[in-house]
Amino acid sequence: GTIYLKDYQAPNYLINRTELHFVLGEEETLVTSRLHLLRNTENGDSSELILDGQDLELVEIYLDGDVLDPSCYEVGEATLLLRDLPEQCLLSCVTRIRPQLNTSLEGLYRSQTMFCTQCEAEGFRKITYYLDRPDVMSVFTVTIDADADRYPVLLSNGNLEETSLLANGLTRVLWHDPFPKPSYLFALVAGDLEHIEDSFTTCSGREVALRIYVEEKDIDKCDHAMDSLKRSMRWDEEVFGREYDLDIFNVVAVDDFNMGAMENKSLNIFNTSCVLCDPNTTTDVGYQRVEAIVAHEYFHNWSGNRVTCRDWFQLSLKEGFTVFRDAEFSSDMGSRTVKRVEDVTLLRSAQFAEDAGPMAHPVRPESYIEINNFYTLTVYEKGAEVVRMIHTLLGPQAFRAGSDLYFARHDGQAVTCEDFVLAMEEASGADLGQFRNWYSQAGTPRLTVTDAWNKEAGSYALTISQSCPATPGQDDKKPFVIPVAMGLLGDAGNLRLQLQGEAPDPDTEDNTHMVLMVDKPEQTFVFEGLPEKPVPSLLRGFSAPVRLEFDYSRNDLCRLMSGDDDGFVRWDSAQSLGVSVITEVQAQLLAGDEAQVDPLFLEACGALLQDDALDPAMLAEMLSLPSENYLAELAGEGAADVQGIYRARTAVLAAVGSHCREALEQRYAQLAVEAKYAATGEQIAARSLRAVCLNYLAAAGASGLALANAQFAAADNITERLAALRVLSQFGSRSDWEAPMAKFYDDWGHETLAVNQWLAVQASMPDDGAIARVRHLMEHPDFDLRNPNKVRSLVGTFAGQNPLNFHREDGSGYRLLRQVVAELNSINPQIASRLLAPLTKWRYYQGRAEQMRSELELLASMDGLSADVFEVVSKSLK
Ligand code: ARG
Ligand code: ZN
Repeated sequence: GTIYLKDYQAPNYLINRTELHFVLGEEETLVTSRLHLLRNTENGDSSELILDGQDLELVEIYLDGDVLDPSCYEVGEATLLLRDLPEQCLLSCVTRIRPQLNTSLEGLYRSQTMFCTQCEAEGFRKITYYLDRPDVMSVFTVTIDADADRYPVLLSNGNLEETSLLANGLTRVLWHDPFPKPSYLFALVAGDLEHIEDSFTTCSGREVALRIYVEEKDIDKCDHAMDSLKRSMRWDEEVFGREYDLDIFNVVAVDDFNMGAMENKSLNIFNTSCVLCDPNTTTDVGYQRVEAIVAHEYFHNWSGNRVTCRDWFQLSLKEGFTVFRDAEFSSDMGSRTVKRVEDVTLLRSAQFAEDAGPMAHPVRPESYIEINNFYTLTVYEKGAEVVRMIHTLLGPQAFRAGSDLYFARHDGQAVTCEDFVLAMEEASGADLGQFRNWYSQAGTPRLTVTDAWNKEAGSYALTISQSCPATPGQDDKKPFVIPVAMGLLGDAGNLRLQLQGEAPDPDTEDNTHMVLMVDKPEQTFVFEGLPEKPVPSLLRGFSAPVRLEFDYSRNDLCRLMSGDDDGFVRWDSAQSLGVSVITEVQAQLLAGDEAQVDPLFLEACGALLQDDALDPAMLAEMLSLPSENYLAELAGEGAADVQGIYRARTAVLAAVGSHCREALEQRYAQLAVEAKYAATGEQIAARSLRAVCLNYLAAAGASGLALANAQFAAADNITERLAALRVLSQFGSRSDWEAPMAKFYDDWGHETLAVNQWLAVQASMPDDGAIARVRHLMEHPDFDLRNPNKVRSLVGTFAGQNPLNFHREDGSGYRLLRQVVAELNSINPQIASRLLAPLTKWRYYQGRAEQMRSELELLASMDGLSADVFEVVSKSLK
């Protein structure tokens, strides 16, 4: 059934202490719980308690030491009902579970040879009967009995207090976590693992032992994560004043994991793909991702663990804030502008689509069927944008004061997004009343901007109007508060800004940019004292998650691209120019004409390539054409023509490739990295720009393919190998890619993480053989439907990153996805449901709606549909 935010009720019992005892076995695991219950008198005096429990076998149950009479409890499908409970009591249950058979990867399960857990959001109920909700915080003591030959490493949260050898030959460990926590932060790991160790001294002098546990074969791939962890710990002290609070911090890498990683108190569990790094298995982007995710999980220790969520509707309270924090960290570690460009690219190509689709929901959703479906780009990424806007509105100092107040006031509590906003308001004196609409209203606001230049008066007016499309359950929207950071570009650079009716800014040094507060349906801002008609530089740094419309001429865009002093706007103008040129070519091709790429664009690309002052990483971003997915998203409902987009985009690539051949070849040669592989900013920038050059050159013909071949052969790292393979398989014919593709597997087939990327490259090939290839690879011995990384790499990449083949006219792409989702539905509902997302965008694609819908209908009519898949399918068909 549907769960509503408005129905929230505090729990009627609290669990002050939780003692868990595990006996881990090869066939079954026995879990004994001792729950110290206390009636929550604030919330009535009912003596009835309903605990959550799923896929459990109740073996024994005791109340205050006595076997509980069967008349006092009732075991339901997903509950244990208890009657006539005293105000204070000790409830003890023995449950039997079978982690070996748990393919959902939530609760306690097996990954390879180890036991591990994933309890967020509601996995703990698959371990034992409990109040599995985040507002029940408890102090956990955990004992684990296991065969030390098989499982020499036995971990849980907090501190290891005792280890002993039992008479039955098993080893027992006892862990105690002094910090009260909700069940979703519980973790347990048992396995034959190696670890690396380091230490960190906190600002107040606490020595923290840092350990990363992995399978023996991966022990050499941990250093980058360890360095990232230490940088994160220092940064959080310096920038947010957050110090670590235990003497130990463990990280464990597991191969079978539904998401990226999990912030369990002092025992973070990571998908191997998000923690291991090696030049032959991890790309440059992968290294940066590992740093960001290690930081993200570490930052949760405060934003998530010390202060947690009252209920799952508040998920963005911890996720939006923590994504904001990790983005700031990454910006400080590398290039702020490049990080911003990467984040905006994701937001605009994927989160905007989510916000315009059938699953659209506010940053703080009002209802859900399955909470796992709400770990979304909206909650995470748009949620982070909302926090970023608060940061912009308050300024860095008041924001920090708000953050300090929030942590101080709510330490040890389970709170709401409202509590966060209140702390920000109180610390700053700001009024965020209307700003709260960002939490409650779904959909991407649209800003339409027009201008008027008055030459005689030297004044320039910008009229900004906002609107927001209807989303499911929300037809009419109230205006948002939208901070529009802006400047005005003149011939010689950015102009001084003087708003009509406002006192001149005394700080004459730096008044070339400001933030306009747009909070009404329509507003006009008039600037005075201007020597010439400016080009507006709008939404600098992407100051709000909105679609912006302004009728720039291509000349305007070129001026912003080369002359504005905001890096984001320079990049964004290049993107807009790219969109406009590709769209024009698409129309030409559709009309049966030859592609004519505007020479202005070709020359702008040429000029960029000559710009030696520009950071190569930034240049790579500016030269990257908008993705097919972004172009489809821009086309709007019913209008995305994937073939047309693909052809036009490829034609523009080829035109730039031939027009700029010399400059591209020169840059490509100059940027060759002679030094041994290192994931340094400088090397990464060089490789990324080289890959962009190679892509253009290969699009333009054979000489580029030859370069790619040579690069593949010479590379000492997977970044360059994959870049070459991608280019060969995108633009070459079978004879170009077949041998290197096979060689890659021969050389790196023993490295799971490398194989995953090899699968992904093949899943995104544009040729007619793509669907047969994906089906064939699903039979490959290295493919495994039970392993989410494999499924994502092959099927996820196919459906999400290969529009040309996923949307084939014969519907074979849709069929393939539906079949995999149907099979996964019973194996791993969470993954099944996530994989399904591309089918839900059926409204977008020209002439495809019926076919896509009919696959959704087939899923809807399946027996045994999981709540996860049911929610997505039924909402998509509405
Ligand atoms: N809290 C984790 C993170 O973002 C995500 C875990 C979510 N897992 C899930 N199965 N819903 O860091
Ligand atoms: Zn998180």
